Formats: sequence, structure tokens, C-alpha cells
Amino acid sequence: MHTIGVIGAGQMGSGIAQTVAQHGMKVLLADIDLATAQRSVEGIDKALGKLVGRGKMEVSEAQALLGRIEAVADYAPMADADIIIEAATEKEPIKQAIFEKAGEVLSQDAILASNTSSIPITRMANYAPEAERFIGLHFFNPVPVMGLIEVIPGLATSKETEERTIAFAEGLGKQVVLSQDEPGFVVNRILLPMINEAVFVLGQSTASIEDIDKGCRLGLNHPMGPLQLADFVGLDTCLDIIMVLYNTTGDSKYRPAPLLQKYVEAGWLGRKAGKGFYDYSGEAPVPTR
Ligand code: CAA
Repeated sequence: MHTIGVIGAGQMGSGIAQTVAQHGMKVLLADIDLATAQRSVEGIDKALGKLVGRGKMEVSEAQALLGRIEAVADYAPMADADIIIEAATEKEPIKQAIFEKAGEVLSQDAILASNTSSIPITRMANYAPEAERFIGLHFFNPVPVMGLIEVIPGLATSKETEERTIAFAEGLGKQVVLSQDEPGFVVNRILLPMINEAVFVLGQSTASIEDIDKGCRLGLNHPMGPLQLADFVGLDTCLDIIMVLYNTTGDSKYRPAPLLQKYVEAGWLGRKAGKGFYDYSGEAPVPTR
């Protein structure tokens, strides 16, 4: 059985752990401490409980899946991992510290991958023990549901690492889009300017939160409107990604919407904070403007 290390047990790390375990692999899940990683496993248990409750999964399957996920206090057990996937917050210094620490245990032929949504892979490869075995592996939220993974080789990533990573991603039942290492890769390069523009539209009072979302749901057939989606992704993450696009290209078309910055400064970070463009404290989400 393959063993996969996942570092960062938030929304994305939990989804990655669940998906990997669902495909028969063992997962070692780490975060800043054991309690945080354990809370994530409890969250996965809850998500599986819902699937069982809706008749989508057998109890035995859920138990076996959960049995393959182990919360760990540090990275030492990841010496057995074939791939270590970093899924921490979208801040480069945090990721750098993780790669340097994970690099100390990474086995001789294992791959170190980053789930970064936009930070250049070629630059972050400098923090890994070997740039040849470092690659971008970008999942989409909710990971168990979304059918895509972007694979992003850096300048120095070896062909072998690229091929093994694609095989791993396809083994998770996902389709792969191969992207060159350009800011935002493919999907976020397109998505984040759309979300950012939706916040400009809101900031200019062109339409209400509900109507902006309704417009895109009904007019474009998107499952969620851009402001709903921003709340789902996390407004801090959206701002981080648009800032990477802005700073790495220097192109003013990526300047962040002032209202997006304001929401982040208020701590209204979206669903995870209970409030973003919508307030999630009641039965149904209520627009905050
Ligand atoms: N594990 C397994 N299955 C799950 C699950 C989980 N944790 N959570 C939900 N599901 C399944 C449900 O069982 C359900 O399955 P069926 O269709 O077979 O019944 C299905 O997913 C849909 O779930 P719901 O019925 O609860 O919810 P929904 O129909 O309202 O859909 C949604 C929810 C899938 C999130 C949908 O609204 C959607 O696709 N939204 C857009 C999501 C999106 O764009 N994601 C990308 C964000 S960008 C990103 O991630 C990249 C980045 O770097 C920022």
C-alpha cells in the first residue's frame, strides 16, 4: 500500500486526505500540532457520516477509509511516504518552512508536491532537497467531488517526477491538466480575476450580492455565483492569489478590489469564519450588504 504524507489539515488538506484514503492509500496527516490534525480527522469522519446517512457509502467502507488516515504530531513518520503533499496556507514563508522540514525526512525517491494555488513552483523548488523531485499538484475544493487536478512542473522538475505525479493524480480518479509554471497556472488565472471583478461590481453598487451571484448562476450556468464561491474558497485565499498574480506580473489588471481587502481586514473570510459576503450563522446564508 502506498503511503502519502499531507501537511496542512485545513479545508484542502482534509479533502486531499479523504480522497487519497478513499483510493486505498495510507495517509499521514500533519498540521501545526497533533490536536489540529486530529480535529481534521474528526471532520472527515463527520463528512463520511453524512455520505453514509445519504446512502452514498457503506459504513464498512467509511470505517476502512478512516482507518487509513493517521493524524501525526510531526513529519518523522513521513519518511515512509511516496509523496508528501503540502497543503498549508497560501503564504510563502510558511510553505518554505514546511518544505525545509519535510525535506529532512523525505525518502530518496519520494516526491515533494505543493498544492499551492498560485505561488511559482520553480521558486519554491529552492526550498526542497532536490528541485527535480519537486512539483505543483493543485487540487480543487471540495476535493472529493471536483474532477480536476492541475499538475505544474517547475523549470527543474524531472520528467520522471512529472509522469509519476500524473499517474498518482489519475489514480485518484481525477483528470489532469498540465500547466506551465506561470502565475495562477490555468484555472486560477481565469477564476480569480472573475471573482475580483465581481467584488468591484459590488463595490460600485452595480448590483446586490444576491443579484451578482444569481446573474452568474443563471446567466452562465455556474453552480455557484462568484461571491458565493469566494466565500467557499476563503476571502483571504482569494486575496492571496490575486496578490500573487498582481505582484508576479506587475500587471494592474490584477489589482485587488478594495472591498475584498476590507472584508479580509474585518476578518470576514467566508464560510470558514461564519461570515463573508454572506452570513452563515442562521439556517440559510444572508447577504452582508
Ligand atoms: N466527500 C464526498 N462527496 C461529497 C462531499 C465530500 N466531502 N461533499 C459533497 N459531496 C458530494 C455529495 O454527496 C453530492 O453527491 P451526489 O451529487 O452524488 O448526490 C455532491 O457532492 C454535491 O453535494 P451537495 O448536494 O451537498 O451540494 P451541491 O449540489 O450544492 O454542490 C458543490 C456543492 C459541489 C460545492 C457545487 O456547488 C459546486 O460545484 N460549486 C463550485 C465549486 C468550485 O468551483 N470549486 C472550485 C473552487 S476553486 C479552487 O478550489 C481552486 C483554488 O485554488 C482556489
